[in-house]
Amino acid sequence: MIQLYYKGATADVVGAHGLSEADFNQVGQKVAHAHQAVCDQIAAGKLGYADLPNRKTYRDRVGQLVAKYKAKTTDLVVLGIGGSALGNIALQTALKPVTYNLIDDAQRGGPRLFVLDNVDPCLVSDTLDLLGSRLGSTVFNVISKSGETAETASQFMIVREMLRAKLGKDFARHIVATTDEKKGTLHDIAKADGYDTMPVPEDVGGRFSVLSPVGLFSAAMCGIDTDKLLAGAAAMLKQLEPHDWRKNPGTMLAAITWLMFNKGKPIQVMMPYSNRLYGLADWYRQLWAESLGKAKDRAGKDAFVGPTPIKALGTTDQHSQAQLYREGPNDKLVIFLEAATHPRELTVPDVFGDVAGLSYLRGTKLSALLQAEKVATEYALAVSQRPTVTIRFDAIDEESVGAFIMYYEFVTSVAGELFNINAYDQPAVELGKQATFALIGRKGYEKMAADIQPFAKPDEKYVLR
Ligand code: PA5
Repeated sequence: MIQLYYKGATADVVGAHGLSEADFNQVGQKVAHAHQAVCDQIAAGKLGYADLPNRKTYRDRVGQLVAKYKAKTTDLVVLGIGGSALGNIALQTALKPVTYNLIDDAQRGGPRLFVLDNVDPCLVSDTLDLLGSRLGSTVFNVISKSGETAETASQFMIVREMLRAKLGKDFARHIVATTDEKKGTLHDIAKADGYDTMPVPEDVGGRFSVLSPVGLFSAAMCGIDTDKLLAGAAAMLKQLEPHDWRKNPGTMLAAITWLMFNKGKPIQVMMPYSNRLYGLADWYRQLWAESLGKAKDRAGKDAFVGPTPIKALGTTDQHSQAQLYREGPNDKLVIFLEAATHPRELTVPDVFGDVAGLSYLRGTKLSALLQAEKVATEYALAVSQRPTVTIRFDAIDEESVGAFIMYYEFVTSVAGELFNINAYDQPAVELGKQATFALIGRKGYEKMAADIQPFAKPDEKYVLR
């Protein structure tokens, strides 16, 4: 399914900027403990995300609703943000053609999918306008664990009123709510209005929830084989159990990222050589940033840790970022994603044989060119002593994508142990959410609104015109 190749991060390749046997030996015990702690938490049922492949009730509920809606739905619009959207986008972009929404209704094999993960008025208005006469065959899947996130809530209110105005009493048949099973604002409204609902698992944080109904419903509606996705995730978890950490791809990647962070490489660039895999880099950015970017360690002491995850696309960003990555500060670990096979292929035709600058390309498969460019970048970075690792997908299919998701969630857990922080909360995100409530005038947030005032209105002294 997937494998880790890490030679490019070793001292053999990048000298003092890489990891030596001494580095690995020094960290061995710490990594072994971290791995044991994560395995113990999984065995004790404390890491809900690891159990998602086993949760038949979720699969059944998703299956019921897909059976109910798929045939009569031309358009599916997800309303959600962060962990309630990025996984949906990653699955769709990895496993469906880039032109999916442009394919004829009869050929596509599922509804068009739009994920509205922002409150940009253009994004929301343009998408709602596009639905036009298809509104009667559109389903809106509103996803919010808390049920009160301002972005999702405001979109939901706009959509609900639009549906009520245009479809009358039938409006509730066009909304499926994915939220807390037992409580919360969205839960209560769904019940009162009579929407179909799916649960967001109580024991799984948003950014770890893609393999729950949060991500599975839109995927299954669009024809992604979610059983295979979950099978890939389950198989990967098994692969991550064995305890020789030097041979375990999960513990090794967690150790490398932790060591690199402490070796003056606080930036980690995920660079897929595949447009299909690019959405996974976005998903990873949230997983890594919210899980590992923490001010306090688990003893409450100042920590201020967390690698900064950024994304780049190969080959596109070779022509945009590579200059910086090779000659700028040597403060990055590049994590390549590559695929052994791609779902599509094209070969450069046998033309321009007499044009010296082009003839070498004749007969080259685009996948071979893409791969050559990846190796070329890996080599060029190594020449500049820039460390890299590669995660190789055997194929871009459901099993490998499911495996990658479980892999990175597990790596995040082990890295959380190494950094000695709580990888499952996001206090800084919560403050931003509350400040939004205060600024928009939600009751109960008056004190915070007063504190924010200096930020709400520009101080003229510092405005230049
Ligand atoms: O990972 C997280 O917890 C966050 O990114 C949330 O997913 C995001 O803020 C959306 O929250 P909610 O699903 O409660 O609307």
